[in-house]
Amino acid sequence: MFWNNQPSHQNWSGHPFDLNRPIVKFSDRDFWTIGDSFEGTQIFGATGSGKTSGSGQTIATTFLQAGYGGLVLTAKKDERATWERYCAMTGCSDHLLIISPQSGFTFNFLDYELNRPGVGAGLTENLVNLFTEIMEVAEDKGGRGANSEEYWSRTLKQLLRNTIDLLTLSQNTLSVMDMYKVITSAPMDFEDIQSETWRDESFCFQKIREGEARTHSYSREQDFEITARYWLSEFPGLAEKTRSIIVSSFTSMADSFLRGVLRDMFCTETNFLPEMTEEGVIILIDLPVKEYGDIGRYAQVLFKYIWQQTIERRIITQNSRPVFLWADESQFFISKYDQVFQTTARSSRAATVYLTQNLPNYLTTLGNRDIVDSFLGNLQTKIFHSNGDAVTNEWAANIFAKNWQTRTSQNQSINRDGDWFFSKVTGKSSSINSSESLEYTVLPYEFTKLRKGGHHNNLKVDAYIFQGGRIWQSSGANYILTSFSQT
Ligand SMILES: Nc1ncnc2c1ncn2[C@@H]1O[C@H](COP(=O)(O)OP(=O)(O)OP(=O)(O)O)[C@@H](O)[C@H]1O
Ligand SMILES: [Mg+2]
Repeated sequence: MFWNNQPSHQNWSGHPFDLNRPIVKFSDRDFWTIGDSFEGTQIFGATGSGKTSGSGQTIATTFLQAGYGGLVLTAKKDERATWERYCAMTGCSDHLLIISPQSGFTFNFLDYELNRPGVGAGLTENLVNLFTEIMEVAEDKGGRGANSEEYWSRTLKQLLRNTIDLLTLSQNTLSVMDMYKVITSAPMDFEDIQSETWRDESFCFQKIREGEARTHSYSREQDFEITARYWLSEFPGLAEKTRSIIVSSFTSMADSFLRGVLRDMFCTETNFLPEMTEEGVIILIDLPVKEYGDIGRYAQVLFKYIWQQTIERRIITQNSRPVFLWADESQFFISKYDQVFQTTARSSRAATVYLTQNLPNYLTTLGNRDIVDSFLGNLQTKIFHSNGDAVTNEWAANIFAKNWQTRTSQNQSINRDGDWFFSKVTGKSSSINSSESLEYTVLPYEFTKLRKGGHHNNLKVDAYIFQGGRIWQSSGANYILTSFSQT
């Protein structure tokens, strides 16, 4: 066991951002490097097990000390104060950029997407994915089957794609308000399209006329034809129920961006950029989900997605500054794109750290176990604090397990027909059964016994740590039992 997790930096003579530089000490002989941090970290532990104040605090202050820039998402109200303290402790308070309704920092995400360099053919698809990413975190995945979900998301994407294309083909700007107006003024049936009044009043129809009057490149002209056909034929022909589901999925999300905090912070001017983290700035979005609910979630998932793509696009040199993505209570922010991001995180020098109580927390957001498993498979360092959740404990015990053991047993039963010799002698027959079972090296219940910090534990928090493909020096095993100090 080890008490002080900060390695001595004096001995490091390489570049401060070298992949091999050790930044956390898990034992006298086991170090965690900058390169390890890019492979992603998942911290599990029950409420009050010491995730935030133990391993979380150690890793967060280590990143700050090492000069990482980063994005911090917030679920609890005290997250901001926690990071203000971390920054004060590590002397980087002036790198902390708090984004809150009072701070005056604003970011127009649609302008940013429309005007960033390299944008072009991919714009519509990227925006479609951005909106579905936000909408998916707010959806309850429990009640829907896989097929209906696929159909639903395909139809919703089609709606978004045609809304964005109609606007970009008929005018030079894009806003959530205009998207909202297109969708809510679209024809509900074929009678609408025949109606002179509808034609005069519909914003959607007005945009079709304007798009028609414009000259486009050959390929954009094709896009326009498809879009016009969608609005004048496919959309009014959709089953009433399907249409109302996709329209309300969009409008209930978009509604939040048309008023209050989200409009003011994300649909007006831009005076800070995700790229700032590449220079060492720590952007903290102070819209904690516990206080702002869905609005906090929409804003943070939106900014996270845009930030992840910015980081993926950045030009990396050998020792580019590392960046991190931090989400305590990560079940509120986890989304499909995280997996894509994680697959290239090492080359974009980005360290994701997600903290949550247990594995079932992710099931609610991601919808099924396969997606959760594959997501977790991509976060290589897994830290397990004290936990009473059976699913998480068993899952952890399984990844620590030494090997599969074949157990054999012999069953005997009265012989009826066959096994002539054996039955002649004994009057019974026998069969050999074999079954495979995992030999645990750490039993699931061991996770219930770890220290959770506090004064009665001398401010020590215990954790088992696993890192994909690593055998730890001090334990000779694929896991290590270590301690973090809360001071
Ligand atoms: N500096 C400190 N001194 C003493 N006790 C502390 C300190 N920091 C945290 N604790 C206590 O240690 C325990 C672990 O707290 P911590 O907030 O780290 O848990 P957590 O795993 O993040 O929980 P949650 O899931 O609720 O966020 C709690 O009982 C907390 O009150
Ligand atoms: Mg916590």
